Amino acid sequence: MSEDLHIPHGASKEEVYKALYPQLQALTDGEPDLIANMANITSALKEAFGFFWVGFYRVVDDKLVLGPFQGPPACTRIMYGKGVCGTAWKEERTLIVPDVDKFPGHIACSSLSRSEIVIPVKKGDSVTAVLDVDSDRPDHFDEIDAIYLEKICSLFR
Ligand code: SME
Repeated sequence: MSEDLHIPHGASKEEVYKALYPQLQALTDGEPDLIANMANITSALKEAFGFFWVGFYRVVDDKLVLGPFQGPPACTRIMYGKGVCGTAWKEERTLIVPDVDKFPGHIACSSLSRSEIVIPVKKGDSVTAVLDVDSDRPDHFDEIDAIYLEKICSLFR
């Protein structure tokens, strides 16, 4: 198959997610390598939405370790329960942070990041990674992002 993405122009955010999801399914289908799939998903999300930073942190022992991402360099390790990522891991739920300055313990990898969404990636019952998306605009993320990014993360189940 061709790896070119087809992203509708001038479409709503939901329409873009709807167009993107089957393409991500096709891109990851039959590919067992976790890193390869994470790499293509971050690339596709960056291409489709131009997010400031989008990437995965993988659970390695008792911490999160930076995985494939698109955007500026980021911190490499995050402890369980720390920052937005470590909290989403601990609480096993999606966190939408409209203003990162108001999230106690937010870890600022870039001073330009203003809002953030973090989605746990689960395999069976355990969290194996988190998907972190940062925006340089405040209040960028809503329930639409949560629904579709969770759906995208369920490709790893
Ligand atoms: N802000 C995150 C850290 C990761 S960077 O944003 C890429 C956090 O508080 O966990």
